[in-house]
Amino acid sequence: MKRGTKKTYKPAENRYQQMKYNRCGRSGILLPAVSLGLWHNFGDVDDFDTARAMIHRALDLGITHFDLANNYGPSPGSAESNFGKILKKDLKAYRDELIISTKAGYLMWPGPYGEWGSRKYLLASLDQSLKRMGLDYVDIFYSHRFDPNTPLEETMSALETAVKQGKAIYTGISNYKPEQTAQAAAILRKAGAPCLIHQPKYSMFERWVEGGLLDVLEQEGIGCIAFSPLAQGLLTDKYLKGIPKDSRAAKPWGFLKREQVTEAVLKKISALNNIAKQRGQSLAQMALAWVLKDKRITTVLVGASHVEQLEQNIACLNNLTFTCDELSRIENILKGT
Ligand SMILES: NC(=O)c1ccc[n+]([C@@H]2O[C@H](COP(=O)([O-])OP(=O)(O)OC[C@H]3O[C@@H](n4cnc5c(N)ncnc54)[C@H](OP(=O)(O)O)[C@@H]3O)[C@@H](O)[C@H]2O)c1
Repeated sequence: MKRGTKKTYKPAENRYQQMKYNRCGRSGILLPAVSLGLWHNFGDVDDFDTARAMIHRALDLGITHFDLANNYGPSPGSAESNFGKILKKDLKAYRDELIISTKAGYLMWPGPYGEWGSRKYLLASLDQSLKRMGLDYVDIFYSHRFDPNTPLEETMSALETAVKQGKAIYTGISNYKPEQTAQAAAILRKAGAPCLIHQPKYSMFERWVEGGLLDVLEQEGIGCIAFSPLAQGLLTDKYLKGIPKDSRAAKPWGFLKREQVTEAVLKKISALNNIAKQRGQSLAQMALAWVLKDKRITTVLVGASHVEQLEQNIACLNNLTFTCDELSRIENILKGT
C-alpha cells in the first residue's frame, strides 16, 4: 500500500489549522491558498493507489479544492472516473467540506457538439462529468476556453442553466482575455449566476495576466486561481541534473515536452534556485510564494505526482513575503539580464 493511503480513510482532525484560506473575489467562498488539480497523474495510465494517497494527504493538509475537467486523463474522462471512485470510497461523508470543479471547452467527443462553447456541448458535458464522478452537482462549472464562433451570451447561458438546474453552485471561466472576461462577467451578473472565479495560466515563466486580466478581476470582484504555477514542474529543482525518467517531460502523454527543457530555461532555473536556497525554501516553494504575493490571486492550482511534492509545496506558506531586493533579482533573472 502506498504511503499516505489508509484502508479506511478518516481526514486528519487538525486539517483546518494547517492551511491558509483566501476569499475568492468578493464572494462568500474561501479557497485554500494551495489547491490540487487532476490534469495529470489521475488518469487510467497512472497508479490509482498513488492518486488516492495524494487526495487523502491533500485533505489532511487542508486542501479543500480539487479541480478537474471533462478531458483530464489520459484517457479523457478517466481523471473524473478515478476521482469519483475515491470520492465514493473515502470522501462521501465529507462532500460538504469540498469544492469540486469541472470544465468543458476542449475536445471531448467527435463531431460538431464535442468541444468549444455551445449550450448543447456544455450541458451535455456537465451531465457526463457528474455521472463519471458520481455527483449530483459540482461546486464550480467552467467554460474552459472562449469560443470565437459562439455568441458569448449562449456560452454563458449554459453556465447559468447549470446553476439554475442545481448541477453547479458557481460559474467560472478559464483562459478568457481581459475584455472577454469583462463581457462574460456582465452577462453572468445580469443572469443571476455571477462569475466566481477565473482560471488563467500564471507563473514566473508565464505572466500574461499582469497585462490587464488581474485588474479586470479586481474590478469585477472575481477570484483568480492560477494554474501551472510551477510551469508544469520546470520551476522546481527536478530538471537541474537532467530529465528524470518518471518526470512529466519524460512521459509520452505529458503536456511538457523534452524540447522545452532548454539550456536557456535551465540557466534561469538554476539562478532562481540559488535565490530560493538563500530564502531557506525550495524553488517550488519560492515559485508558489511568488504567485501568491499578489493579493488578487486567491489560490495556486498545483499538480503533483507524489505525496511528497504536495507536502513540500504546501510548506510554501511558511514564507510568502519577498524583499524588494529579492524581487528585483528574480525580475532580472526572468528578463535574462
Ligand atoms: N484551465 C486550463 O486550461 C488548465 C490547463 C492546465 C492545467 N490546469 C489546471 O492546473 C492544474 C495544475 O497544472 P500543472 O500540473 O501543470 O501544475 P504545476 O504545479 O505547474 O506542475 C505540476 C507538476 O510539477 C511537478 N512538481 C510538483 N511539485 C513538485 C516539487 N515539489 N518538486 C518537483 N517537481 C514537482 C510534478 O511533475 P512530475 O510528474 O514531473 O513529478 C507535477 O505534476 C491542473 O491539474 C489543472 O487542474 C488548467
